[in-house]
Amino acid sequence: MRIKRLKHLDSRKAACEGYLISAKSDDLNFATAGENKEYIDLKEWFGTERPLWLEIGCGKGQFACELAKRHPEINIIAVEKNTNVIVQACEKAMEQGINNVRFLKCGAEYITRYLKPHSVGRLFLNFSCPFPKKSHTSHRLTSPTFLPLYRELLTEGAEIHQKTDNRQLFEFSLEQLSEHGFTLKNISLDLHNSDFEGNIVTEYEQRFVSQGLPIYRLEAYIK
Ligand SMILES: C[S@@+](CC[C@H](N)C(=O)[O-])C[C@H]1O[C@@H](n2cnc3c(N)ncnc32)[C@H](O)[C@@H]1O
Repeated sequence: MRIKRLKHLDSRKAACEGYLISAKSDDLNFATAGENKEYIDLKEWFGTERPLWLEIGCGKGQFACELAKRHPEINIIAVEKNTNVIVQACEKAMEQGINNVRFLKCGAEYITRYLKPHSVGRLFLNFSCPFPKKSHTSHRLTSPTFLPLYRELLTEGAEIHQKTDNRQLFEFSLEQLSEHGFTLKNISLDLHNSDFEGNIVTEYEQRFVSQGLPIYRLEAYIK
């Protein structure tokens, strides 16, 4: 399916300069994605050093912006591969004058190219594409393609927080995270009817909840 290009994309992208980190490299070989390092200078992008949290697949940035507002003591990198939506995420952060979030345009496959090992204190995966076909399993963001990358990035004791409306993806994630040495905690099978406090609702979550669908949530960490 061809994705419709956002109106005035080039000028809007240019206007996001201070918020949008574009991958320098156009090397599209997933197999060697993490080999050639092009670490982002976080101090330069944020102007100050703070602990780092990461969101992958941030869409239009509602979650990342709210997270940044609630946690001014943290720097947040939100990753998204689709230019149309990452531009809208940057515009949201700019309009609200949020200075502790930046958006990295790249596929998750490249993340260890841009961020240093053991630099991320928390990783958020919100309503990642479920890729239901068996032949597409490796594209799921909790597949064995990605979990070793997260292990490389995460600091000791760091947590992964995942939310999804998709039961199949949720069960797959529970299984894969356990198999890759993560410990699971705070599992919810119906987040919006639980006593969980402080949830930040994403764009997709809003839609699913209005359709009456349960939201699944988990936390995972390395001991
Ligand atoms: C279903 S949307 C959810 C967006 C947002 N997190 C929310 O909850 O509203 C999933 C997003 O993940 C992005 N995505 C999927 N696979 C990705 C990958 N490998 N690397 C980076 N982004 C990815 C898609 O482009 C899409 O914007």
